[in-house]
Formats: sequence, structure tokens, C-alpha cells
Amino acid sequence: MSAPDLEQKKWQLARGVTVWFTGLPSSGKSTLARSLERLLKKKNLPVELLDGDVVRTHLSKDLGFSKEDRDTNIKRIGFVCQLLTRHGVAAVASFVSPYREARDYNRRLIGNFVEVYVKASPAACEKRDVKGLYQKARAGEIKGFTGVDDPYEEPAQAEVVCDTEKESAEESLGKVLARLEKLGYLKIV
Ligand code: ADX
Repeated sequence: MSAPDLEQKKWQLARGVTVWFTGLPSSGKSTLARSLERLLKKKNLPVELLDGDVVRTHLSKDLGFSKEDRDTNIKRIGFVCQLLTRHGVAAVASFVSPYREARDYNRRLIGNFVEVYVKASPAACEKRDVKGLYQKARAGEIKGFTGVDDPYEEPAQAEVVCDTEKESAEESLGKVLARLEKLGYLKIV
């Protein structure tokens, strides 16, 4: 569907859903998650964005980046997403969430769960280095940085894969919307 076409249509959220963006730092998660939030808001749909940087200054202020802390972070966010989802909200979550088991835990907990793998090679992410953290990790100023000296487990069966090295942000967003529609969460009439 083209952009002007989407403008004309009426959108409905048939039921609550968690759209979970996962990927390496600087893969493009936050950009995509923010544009999804903006669009759903524009259509007057109930949406809440949960983003790594904000959550880590509030809900998970006490946590670091060990495997244990990351898993706790992801499970806390999953708990919040479950509450939002069961009240009919589109919870848009954007977290590195490097461990498959923690993501799958949230999938089971929430049920209405759409995983979006924001895919870009470690080299491309490092080249973008949006926050300059890869450089710090290479300099040894940050230890255990995902994509440098900490693992990232790719999703095995994500509902959507957005290859941000090949697709424009608009194309990636279009893929997410199409999937949400196909799965019956979004009705565009
Ligand atoms: S997660 O692993 O628990 O899912 P989360 O998405 O909340 O991570 O936070 C990731 C953000 O924290 C990154 O975008 C980056 O800005 C920052 N960060 C700081 N230290 C690290 C680290 N060691 N590994 C990954 N991200 C880090």
C-alpha cells in the first residue's frame, strides 16, 4: 500500500499487541520503533513506546549489562508490555535483547507478540555508531558491548525481518504494518 493510500484509510487496533524490536546497537531499532509509534498515534490508536535508553534511566536504573541484568531488564519490560497488551494497547518495545531465551519468555508471557528482527551486519552497525559506543568498546572503555565482545543471538523465527542495510526506513515500516495487518492486529479499512 502506498503512503497516500494509507493516509485515506481508517485504522483500527483489533486487540492489544506487543511489537518487539530486537537487534544490535545502531541497527536501526529505535528509528523504526519511533516511526511506528508516530504513525499509530497519528491514527489515534493507543500506543506506548518503551525504549532502551528511557527504560534504563527509570525502570531498570539499577541494572547493568551482565547476562543476568540484561535478562532481568527484558523480563521487567515484558511484564509492563503484558499489562499494556492485555488492555488493548500497542506496546512498541525497542531493546537490544540479545538473548533468545529472554525474548521467547516474553513471547510466551504476552501471547500477542510480534518480533521484529532489525538486521544489519556488525560491521555496518559499527560504522554507523550512532552513540559512539562501538568506538568506546574498541578502546576498552566499555566491556561486554553487544556486537564487540558480547553475544547477540539472532531470532530463529521473527515475524518480521527488516534488513536496514538494504531497505529504506519506509520500506521496513511498511513490512511491519503489513505483518500486523496479516496477523489480524491492525485493520485498515
Ligand atoms: S539489553 O541488552 O538489556 O536489551 P538495552 O536495549 O536495554 O540492552 O540497552 C542497550 C543500550 O544501552 C545500547 O543502545 C547502548 O546505548 C547502551 N549500552 C551501554 N552499555 C552497553 C553494552 N555493554 N552493551 C550494549 N549496549 C550498551
